Amino acid sequence: MKAIVYTKYGPPDVLQLKEVEKPAPGGKEVLIRIHATTVTSADWRARSLAMPVGFGFIARLVLGVLRPRQSILGSELAGVIESVGEDVNKFKVGDQVFAFSGARMGCHAEYKCMPEDGAVVLKPANLTYDEAAAISLVEQQRWIFQKSKTSVRGKVLINGASGGVGTAAVQLARHFGANVTGVCSTANVELVRSLGANHVIDYTKEDFTENGEIYDIIVDTVGTAPFSRSGGSLKERGRLLLVLGGLPDILWMPWVSMTSSKKVIAGPAAERVEDLRFLAKLAEEGKFKPVIDRRYSFEQIAEAHSYVDTGRKKGNVVITLERRNKTETHAMSIFQGPNIFTQVF
Ligand SMILES: NC(=O)c1ccc[n+]([C@@H]2O[C@H](COP(=O)([O-])OP(=O)(O)OC[C@H]3O[C@@H](n4cnc5c(N)ncnc54)[C@H](OP(=O)(O)O)[C@@H]3O)[C@@H](O)[C@H]2O)c1
Repeated sequence: MKAIVYTKYGPPDVLQLKEVEKPAPGGKEVLIRIHATTVTSADWRARSLAMPVGFGFIARLVLGVLRPRQSILGSELAGVIESVGEDVNKFKVGDQVFAFSGARMGCHAEYKCMPEDGAVVLKPANLTYDEAAAISLVEQQRWIFQKSKTSVRGKVLINGASGGVGTAAVQLARHFGANVTGVCSTANVELVRSLGANHVIDYTKEDFTENGEIYDIIVDTVGTAPFSRSGGSLKERGRLLLVLGGLPDILWMPWVSMTSSKKVIAGPAAERVEDLRFLAKLAEEGKFKPVIDRRYSFEQIAEAHSYVDTGRKKGNVVITLERRNKTETHAMSIFQGPNIFTQVF
């Protein structure tokens, strides 16, 4: 099968399209023929080793000290089950599914084996493969919300509301009943509003930490709102969820809990199939829709990485492995988005 392989850390040109052995499913595994996958900020970080402050060495220990241990990136996929192991009873050949392989990655390929008990879920019929592939990573955001042990109500501010995590967080926080403020740049104000945000702050014109507003929950997906900067914008007993934070911010967490009623929450997210099912159900009911910024073909994956590297994507970047005509394959404008979202809310 074809796969995108990298054998050393570096810029997008370390990625190579190669022929590798097609996997065969074990007894409790399904083999998925991938129709769509994504390039996420996690792929960018694993490829380039661009890590938040203090995590460089830890990342090498996890990913491979001198070279990547796992040579195929990609943690999200959508596709069709092509074959199943002899002990599989939850899925059958032909099922349309989406899946999240998490830290094991390996989705930038034509095929991927997943354990039937892993994060594999039937694809909602109303989602395309492209959209379904872009669902999973946001599961992590929901998990972080859950982990906060704070019901996601009241006033929630999402810093980086136009990114992959942010666009999902805005929709989910609205679904949970919160009054949502999204923070983004001028170009993305309309997008964030179309996702259902009650208020949008353009960070090029206003600093949310200085406008006097206070929030029950602040979610930082950018790394520009550590507790030292945003703590004053939290209510008593408020929660700061660091989707992205440096090691010093993490080490600071116990001190914040000991000296105030506020709490900083951070850490890696677990893959939970029940969360994927929850998202699939929301999508089926038209209450959640992944935002797709651009689509690229499998062969254009280095271009897709270059775009993700900018840190300015809007929602998700999808890699499609299906045969499409040229106009469909070409990058799509995000401004198809608002039409979709007015159907959602
Ligand atoms: N902990 C976890 O479980 C977890 C899970 C997934 C991802 N992550 C991490 O979370 C981070 C975000 O991921 P992502 O996929 O959402 O990234 P992304 O799609 O690249 O989005 C980044 C967003 O940040 C916005 N931004 C840039 N500067 C900003 C500023 N000063 N203030 C507010 N917004 C700003 C950009 O919007 P504008 O163009 O409008 O500036 C962009 O839309 C990544 O670094 C990733 O490593 C963590």
